[in-house]
Amino acid sequence: MTITFQLTIGVMLALGFAVTAHAQTKPGTVLLTGASQGHGLAFAEDYAARGWRVIATARTPSTATELQALAKKYPKLTIEELDVTDFKQVDALAAKYKGTAIDVLNLNGAINSFRVGVEAFGPLDPERLNEILNTNVTAQLHIAEAFLEHVAASEQKKIAAMSAVGGSITNTRNPTAPAYRASKAALNMLMRAYGEQVKVRGVAVLVIAPGTVDVYNYMALADISQVPERYRRQIELKVLAPRSAIGSMIDLIDKLTIADIDKFHQWDGKILPW
Ligand SMILES: NC(=O)c1ccc[n+]([C@@H]2O[C@H](COP(=O)([O-])OP(=O)(O)OC[C@H]3O[C@@H](n4cnc5c(N)ncnc54)[C@H](OP(=O)(O)O)[C@@H]3O)[C@@H](O)[C@H]2O)c1
Repeated sequence: MTITFQLTIGVMLALGFAVTAHAQTKPGTVLLTGASQGHGLAFAEDYAARGWRVIATARTPSTATELQALAKKYPKLTIEELDVTDFKQVDALAAKYKGTAIDVLNLNGAINSFRVGVEAFGPLDPERLNEILNTNVTAQLHIAEAFLEHVAASEQKKIAAMSAVGGSITNTRNPTAPAYRASKAALNMLMRAYGEQVKVRGVAVLVIAPGTVDVYNYMALADISQVPERYRRQIELKVLAPRSAIGSMIDLIDKLTIADIDKFHQWDGKILPW
């Protein structure tokens, strides 16, 4: 195995190929939710740059201008409309792609309340709690189930659920964003159990905490006063993950297998307590 690998590298070097630092799985097909902005947009860009076929879904494609620009740049990137909470739309998309093998189903699109308005106790708005749970938990499982056959028919067979460090019950230190935290803790359990259900199909359901990734490259700015307050604080606390964290997660998803479904993975490969 080692000899074959070394020979392959040697042949590639002799032929003048650039050998990248990370081992990459053969490009496949990825379906992303929430690809209009943030991490989802960055995943779409990085998967496309690696030669993957990208089915990039967005709630409102007409306003997703950066995603549209990516589709112009990368012919293998297709934009599809998808509100993850519209179960009929999810089912219709699954039917449209019936017979298409999807190597990686990246469950990324969710209500990230740290970005769109942090909810709080005192009292916690029950409607907002239900909305967050419906989007971040119920809808995620529905998509996973709707696309199970597509994933099972692929070579790589991965479902990657984007959780959050805030979903770790063990690590909870403050009461901020309880609905968001609860949604990610529930997502963890649901995906952990679903992983047990579908492993017989060869499908690996992976739970990954992306951290806050510097998708806007704020850390590269010379003048930190240009950085929005929340990100500035994260830079100061040294908890903002670099833009390269998206590529690290693609590598991590490539690497992880059914043997890893019992762990809560952080973007850098660290294992978090549940
Ligand atoms: N950034 C962080 O700090 C952080 C940390 C840990 C985990 N995460 C997780 O990583 C994932 C991406 O986060 P992010 O930072 O990229 O968040 P973001 O910038 O707020 O983007 C969220 C994405 O999800 C989409 N979305 C929200 N509700 C949707 C729905 N009902 N149907 C379809 N798409 C929907 C949004 O679409 P619209 O453009 O239409 O709103 C957007 O594309 C989330 O699961 C989040 O919980 C993020």
